[in-house]
Amino acid sequence: MELYLDTAQLAEVAEATSWGVLRGITTNPSHVFKAGVRDLKPHIQEMCHTADVPISVEVVTLDADEMVAQGSAFAAWSPHVVVKVPTIPAGLRAMSRLARTDVMATCDGCRYRSDCPIRARFEAAGGLTRTLQVNATLIFSANQAILALAAGAAYVSPFVGRLDAVGEDGVQLVRDIAAILAHQRQRGKIIAAALRHPIHVIEVAKAGADIATMSFSLLAQLVEHPLTERGLADFMADYERSKVQP
Ligand code: E4P
Repeated sequence: MELYLDTAQLAEVAEATSWGVLRGITTNPSHVFKAGVRDLKPHIQEMCHTADVPISVEVVTLDADEMVAQGSAFAAWSPHVVVKVPTIPAGLRAMSRLARTDVMATCDGCRYRSDCPIRARFEAAGGLTRTLQVNATLIFSANQAILALAAGAAYVSPFVGRLDAVGEDGVQLVRDIAAILAHQRQRGKIIAAALRHPIHVIEVAKAGADIATMSFSLLAQLVEHPLTERGLADFMADYERSKVQP
């Protein structure tokens, strides 16, 4: 299972990138607001340069034509942009169009554009112009996932913790979607989203999620264990006492 960060905070992206574990980023309008971002394009381009991973950028309109226009514009910012679209009727209309739209990543305005190894790599692989990838967001039922996949979404994002919070079983939804994809031999990746604690990460991995997206604080929790801390403190103390040359 791949690990994504659910954030618009550049410092968090840089830290997770330095750990070598980050395989993607999901943003949403709330994360963008919390990060105090004023101009989204340079911010996404900075994330692209920092992490070199797929970045979901969410449309901010309820109108299908505007979703298509926004999504097509986002996809030109960086070859890593995936367009995040809400799973509502207008969203399905937009998904079915976006998933058939070829867009060239011009990277216009990016301050790294002239000497960018990421751009050069995509260019060499013929990947600057690509068919848009859609991440269908705000998924709370298997039927919404079935619809989004039928409309051409490459990713579906069930919001696990938000379902748990209203007394439903978020992990079971991930399990159901994974079973449907396997049974139907259908393409599509499950991004388990709105994860709240480390057990969620283990449970969605067992349930068949392809990707788990989480806050930086949850990612940081995954590496922590008191026995690791205690064991390391003992080893370091004994190393100091031993006076051995490393
Ligand atoms: C997913 O892509 C969403 O950005 C995210 O997981 C939202 O979840 P939350 O706001 O409930 O944490």
